[in-house]
Amino acid sequence: NSPLRIGIAGLGTVGAGVVKLLAEHGRLLSVRGGRPLKIVAVSARSKARKRDIDLSGMRWEKDPMALATAPDIDVVVELIGGSGGVARRLVQKALASGKHVVTANKALLALHGTELAALAEKKQRSLAFEAAVAGGIPIIKALREGLVGNRVKRLYGILNGTCNYILTTMRETGRDFDVVLAEAQAAGYAEADPTFDVDGIDAAHKLAVLTGAAFGARVDFAGVHVEGIRRVTSMDIEFAQELGYRIKLLGLARETRHGIEQRVHPCMVPLDTPIAHIEGVFNAVVVEGDFVGTTMFQGRGAGQGPTASAVVADLVDVARGRHMPAFVVPAEKLATKKASPMDRHV
Ligand code: HSE
Repeated sequence: NSPLRIGIAGLGTVGAGVVKLLAEHGRLLSVRGGRPLKIVAVSARSKARKRDIDLSGMRWEKDPMALATAPDIDVVVELIGGSGGVARRLVQKALASGKHVVTANKALLALHGTELAALAEKKQRSLAFEAAVAGGIPIIKALREGLVGNRVKRLYGILNGTCNYILTTMRETGRDFDVVLAEAQAAGYAEADPTFDVDGIDAAHKLAVLTGAAFGARVDFAGVHVEGIRRVTSMDIEFAQELGYRIKLLGLARETRHGIEQRVHPCMVPLDTPIAHIEGVFNAVVVEGDFVGTTMFQGRGAGQGPTASAVVADLVDVARGRHMPAFVVPAEKLATKKASPMDRHV
């Protein structure tokens, strides 16, 4: 069978992970995907950077935009990041040129997801983004496939590994916020600009994408109420513990009579709730569906291996020729509504 020809834009932590995974599991994946998955070309800011991956046999494109129109590429993997600029132009151009797109870019989807999904539909191409939300947890697939028969009533989760790592480590060691944040950065979990993590913006990006996938609503980042963890002190964490709670940064979306409420903020989570015990860089998502009841998914939400695992899952879907609309908008388009900051229960 003819190979699925892949172009990768961005060879940071995640891009290098995808190259490694495809090299290591190439044979297995060609069986699972029904055809070989072949990286034809790559593009990144620096060719010289040490990455510990084998790029032989792949074309080096200086300009990532060249991947969008290259005749020998079927799918562009966008791992550049950032909500505008090159990433947005690349995804637009690739879709417009009839390529499929796989992206891990939650910021891009949170701000432009609805418009990009419409372009993908028009072109009958996939815009796949399993890696954009909750790292290695296959939550987008779960919502689209395993839970597709349900109307989702509510979902909530720990969507930022860096914040959860910081809150966990502060509680376990009593160390300061700044020191622990530096560790998360060194481990490669934090965003290029870590204020996105600690101010709740990254979690809000992911929540907006999840809301779009779960409720069939338009992706509405501006409708998310956002508060981060900067003001949480070791003392707060200790008091919460004494009272029988853990402090977690949660993202929550639920159906209300007025539309969908979306919010991200630190929550007091009772210790007898499973999500209270999701620690470190782990993420978890709880989905409450009308027929299935409550389901919880957990796993690593950041880092090279988990995120590469999610990117490759999307590539295998494309290889299999599975096309699914990026965001399914039902007949009744639900309005989204900004949450009241006074409302802080789970
Ligand atoms: N900075 C993000 C996190 C990376 O810590 O969860 C994964 O999206």
